[in-house]
Amino acid sequence: MTLRLFPRSLATRTALVLLLGLAVVQIAGLTIHAFDRMDIQRLAQVRDLAVRLMLIYRNVSLAPPQQREDVLRELNRAHDLVAMLSPTPPTGELPETPPNLQRLLRVNLNLVPLSAPLRPREFSMLGDPAWGTMLVGMQMPDGQWLNFHAEVEPPTPWHSPTFLTAFLLMTATAAVLTIWAVRRLTAPVRTLARAADTLGRDVNAPPLPEDGPTEVATAAAAFNTMAARIRRFVQDRTEMLTAIGHDLRTPITRLKLRAEFVEDDELRRKMLSDLEELEAMVSATLAFGRDATATEPVSPIDLAELLQTVLDEAGDARPEAADSLSYDGPPHLTIRARPFALKRALANLIANAISYGGSATVRLVPPLAGTVGVAIEDSGPGIPPQELERVFEPFHRVEGSRNRETGGVGLGLPIARNILRAHGGDVTLSNRPGGGARAMVTLPS
Ligand SMILES: Nc1ncnc2c1ncn2[C@@H]1O[C@H](COP(=O)(O)OP(=O)(O)O)[C@@H](O)[C@H]1O
Ligand SMILES: [Mg+2]
Repeated sequence: MTLRLFPRSLATRTALVLLLGLAVVQIAGLTIHAFDRMDIQRLAQVRDLAVRLMLIYRNVSLAPPQQREDVLRELNRAHDLVAMLSPTPPTGELPETPPNLQRLLRVNLNLVPLSAPLRPREFSMLGDPAWGTMLVGMQMPDGQWLNFHAEVEPPTPWHSPTFLTAFLLMTATAAVLTIWAVRRLTAPVRTLARAADTLGRDVNAPPLPEDGPTEVATAAAAFNTMAARIRRFVQDRTEMLTAIGHDLRTPITRLKLRAEFVEDDELRRKMLSDLEELEAMVSATLAFGRDATATEPVSPIDLAELLQTVLDEAGDARPEAADSLSYDGPPHLTIRARPFALKRALANLIANAISYGGSATVRLVPPLAGTVGVAIEDSGPGIPPQELERVFEPFHRVEGSRNRETGGVGLGLPIARNILRAHGGDVTLSNRPGGGARAMVTLPS
């Protein structure tokens, strides 16, 4: 089995493309949301930090210089913020704080009320909440630096685990809806395919319902029109065939009457025999036309039982061959077909096997990939290879058959094929390696 990366079904393909699109949109949305949220969080952290720093700065700067260390010790209680006095600004392996955060920090530092002479002379800022650490230095009016080491919690992309759960739930719902919608959208394609398949088995299959969305209704209507035209075409052909056969009857009867007056006995006998044959051909044609126009409904039938019945009847009709008839296959197998038509087709094939092959072995092959097979084999002379297809032409008989007492006119195989093809099946002839002919029938199961 080859690994198929791209699925074959339209529904799966469409669903896949839509789901991929959905995933891309969701991921993009989630990323934008996360960045946005992290940005806001950073701003809030910096603002909060500024207020805390300024309160400490104010306390320290208001204290007399010799008491500043004590004040600091008093204030250094928070575990995430350490302040220390230093002659230099803070240093560290940290990148400089982004300008927008620096500005924000500075503005907020200035918000705390403090008299002008006490305001910091200079600021120094390193780090970013995203790194988890910020170093901020403020130079007091006397030149000394008050440096802070602040541990900030790195911003998180989600508020809470419920957010992620809700997000996943939303995505899953959207995915399920997509799959459902795609399946609904592609359903008419499946319906059309099924209808086309049914039409192949039965020209008289009921029309498709012409409702639903406009496009679907239009397609169904077009399909129904096409089916009606095919039906009409087949019907016209058969009607013409029957009409011709019918009109030939009168002149043949007249000819027969006239032939009676031929003096020469030999010539009269031959003429009458030819006319007799002509009459048989016309009768067979008319019978075929009658069968084809009769619209027998399709119904479930037991193919295994039908085959055994046909064999029994053939045995009754030709007692001399009754012992050489056999059936091999399951005792029951139900398929949908037109019972009388199918029986006629199978009877023709079995009759041929008996007439030309002297025996008939019928094997029923159970359904395989939607097809049942029926093999009808005999042990006669077989059929010359160049005749295997031609015997399906109307009135075509292999040289010599005409003179036998079989009485056929050469319509048995064309009729059988016609019926089987109208069922969506077929029949082909072949010669068995061990001698004898085999008619292979296939039917949709
Ligand atoms: N099982 C068979 N073995 C040998 N020849 C066959 C077999 N089935 C059919 N044929 C040949 O095919 C010809 C056409 O068959 P068919 O259409 O049934 O007409 P018919 O039986 O009336 O002659 C037959 O005349 C015969 O020559
Ligand atoms: Mg025949």
